[in-house]
Amino acid sequence: MTAAMAPEGSGSRRSPVERQALSLVEWTVTVPGAAAEAVGHILRGRAAGLVEEETPGGVALRVYLPEEEAEAVRAEVRGRLAALPEHFPGLGLRGDPFWSESERVLGTEDWAERWRDFFRPVRIGRRLVIAPAWRPASPEGGRVTVRLEPGLAFGTGQHASTRVALRLLLRALRRGDAVVDVGTGSGVLAVAAALLGAGRVFALDVDPAAVRAAAENADLNGVADRVAVRRGEWGEWPEARGNLLVANISPEVVTALASLAGERLAADGRAVLAGFLAEDAEAVAAAWVAAGWTVGRELREEGWAGLLLGRRRRGWRRREPRPAGEAVAVGGRGRGRR
Ligand SMILES: C[S@@+](CC[C@H](N)C(=O)[O-])C[C@H]1O[C@@H](n2cnc3c(N)ncnc32)[C@H](O)[C@@H]1O
Repeated sequence: MTAAMAPEGSGSRRSPVERQALSLVEWTVTVPGAAAEAVGHILRGRAAGLVEEETPGGVALRVYLPEEEAEAVRAEVRGRLAALPEHFPGLGLRGDPFWSESERVLGTEDWAERWRDFFRPVRIGRRLVIAPAWRPASPEGGRVTVRLEPGLAFGTGQHASTRVALRLLLRALRRGDAVVDVGTGSGVLAVAAALLGAGRVFALDVDPAAVRAAAENADLNGVADRVAVRRGEWGEWPEARGNLLVANISPEVVTALASLAGERLAADGRAVLAGFLAEDAEAVAAAWVAAGWTVGRELREEGWAGLLLGRRRRGWRRREPRPAGEAVAVGGRGRGRR
């Protein structure tokens, strides 16, 4: 995503998680007509939104790649294209290479539309699925479905950081909890919490586009009566209190939340923190531990980490961090993967 075209109130405030997830590259590979089908097959397997167009120079095949994956995907696809003349001599492919390429990084408006091509239903643990609002809802046996229209806000479940936060939410949430979601983005965590049984959710974001998206998604999922969405930071909303905090933002912001958490969360308070890389988890945990909290669990996925903390009390002890799908019990009382 180019900062110049970022929506009001965002741009430079975007966290590393958001910046990584929002950058999209449009990549066009132009090939002789005879190779279009084979190349289209290769591209379809590695990228989203394939569009074909006849041009004077051949058939232009256009796909969309998350920027952080683009170079690796292109290198792999180029390798497979280079092998085509030998594997399919009948196509008569000449030239080294036989194709031409161009690319452009998409701006916010393009991104908002194109990102839809990437948004597939995402299953979280055994109980939750995050699905795009514009595709027909297909009930998934026994799973709670969060339907989302992210607009320009972050949070579709396609990013590992959101998935880590959702998995920890599944573990941390108790029926009737009052949840505070700081940095709600699309409202994905807030809506999931409400659908999973939270009594009420107070969802905050500094970005007006996120506030709009989260309110719309609460409405879309029929939980607007239990999810209050407001613009601002946690410190600006004294009524934002509860027993569970969820925050997927950045190492700096989630570290700074520790002091307010002591004041705003109840005696059985729990916190789900994400938005930082595995290498930053120890520093985030240390700040919260210094503020009187205990780490109950750490999850990791694709290099991103998440922490579940509780107010220091008997029965909470720290376990070794686990990659996705290998969560272990907190204090020996857990129920395995959720
Ligand atoms: C990485 S997104 C997370 C969105 C969603 N909660 C999720 O888990 O996918 C972080 C969000 O935090 C917001 N944000 C950044 N700093 C903030 C702050 N100090 N207080 C509240 N929101 C903040 C951003 O505008 C953005 O929408």
